[in-house]
Amino acid sequence: MRQRLAVANWKMNGHLADVAQARAIADGAKDMTGADVLICPPATLIAEVARALEGTAALVGAQDCHAAAGGAHTGDLSAAMLREAGATHVILGHSERRAAYGESDAQVRAKAEGAWAAGLVTVLCVGEDEAVRDAGEAEAFVTAQVEGSVPDGAGPHNTVFAYEPVWAVGTGRSADAETIERMHGAIRRALLRRLGDAAEAIPLLYGGSVKAANAEALFALPQVDGALVGGASLKAEDFCPIIAALAAAPR
Ligand code: PGA
Repeated sequence: MRQRLAVANWKMNGHLADVAQARAIADGAKDMTGADVLICPPATLIAEVARALEGTAALVGAQDCHAAAGGAHTGDLSAAMLREAGATHVILGHSERRAAYGESDAQVRAKAEGAWAAGLVTVLCVGEDEAVRDAGEAEAFVTAQVEGSVPDGAGPHNTVFAYEPVWAVGTGRSADAETIERMHGAIRRALLRRLGDAAEAIPLLYGGSVKAANAEALFALPQVDGALVGGASLKAEDFCPIIAALAAAPR
């Protein structure tokens, strides 16, 4: 049985006053035993959020890390630093970073190796933009991203995947069920080819305009093990119903 995971990606949102939201999310989810919760605030808040979540089942993660363990990399953070601050997970290869910083599959893969070395679980993101989809190349594109981004040795102990079509992120236009099922099938096949049986238990999340109103239908899809949520993860009142839908979804 695969882990079910609801991930909050706060992006560059969140100040000290918002740490209370993290605690409210964890408290709201405490009886929802069918889903695990991971909150990824900006790096400045990881330690505060980790403290606020003490005594709850919710986890805290980072949104990026450097591939190296340390050194002359002004402005960057190593996985070990994030781990020390309280992170257990790190999101890597998010489409906003791939677009804004030109992060390549090879860089994402190197970061994942660095994250594993520090004991972090990686949430690896893949997804095509609108032009690639319109050209009919979405599956080939995403499959290549998967193969290029995941290091050897990946399994459910160190890796979660998230399919986030770029055209669905922050647009209010979530992908439809057929699109998600087809792509999740293609990603699972790519992982099985690359990693063998270990790939079967790697959780595969969907991300892109997930909200309470579409969560139930999303989590009814057999190949969807959870969600990576941006806008609707900032407030407990928006995120808790999504966690509840995941916890209640049929297996
Ligand atoms: P969104 O963002 O839920 O606001 O579309 C998802 C993400 O970028 O992880």
